[in-house]
Amino acid sequence: QRLVVLVSGSGTNLQALLDACAQESYGARVVAVGADRDGIEGLARAERAGIPTFVVRVGEHADRAAWDAVLAAEVARHEPDLVVLAGFMKLVGPAFLDRFGGRTLNTHPALSPAFPGMHGPRDALAYGVKVTGATLFLVDAGVDTGAIVAQAAVPVEADDSEETLHERIKVAERAMLVEAVGRIAREGVTVEGRRVRFGR
Ligand code: GRF
Repeated sequence: QRLVVLVSGSGTNLQALLDACAQESYGARVVAVGADRDGIEGLARAERAGIPTFVVRVGEHADRAAWDAVLAAEVARHEPDLVVLAGFMKLVGPAFLDRFGGRTLNTHPALSPAFPGMHGPRDALAYGVKVTGATLFLVDAGVDTGAIVAQAAVPVEADDSEETLHERIKVAERAMLVEAVGRIAREGVTVEGRRVRFGR
């Protein structure tokens, strides 16, 4: 399984995938890493692993649709079986989804459908939930609304800050991502309506 991973930040989810792919038995390898901005640790992690990288900056394109088309073309150059949005902070659009819908995964640091959007851990903390977590889903046209592949729950501690909570979520998120991508690579994934299961 050829993976293309898109990042926007520190890339610890990417790193977890890179470490897993180092095991032959895992069944997948990261063939390229893309980003929407330069100078992020996620790109440095790819470069250290000798993996090709590309950057598609929104500001360099006439509008979002043009950016989306170029992003899709860049990803397509690497002929992925699966695209993983791992901390990618932009919404992919119609051009991207036409080509990679149904085989693009995204991770979100909350238990969907709760707390979609940019501040899952902060929103969970503010709401006062006692349990939150991470969700892996197949990307659709909405914001964090796609069919759910896997979820992992973590407790919210009384003294949590947004940062301590997000770090606890990320530990569970990375394990969930690595496990699910490996199973998809080895077993495949089947979607019926909103219900997702591993296997062909
Ligand atoms: C992850 O928690 C992801 O779900 C969220 O931002 C974080 C990215 O972390 N969107 P990293 O860049 O993989 O370290």
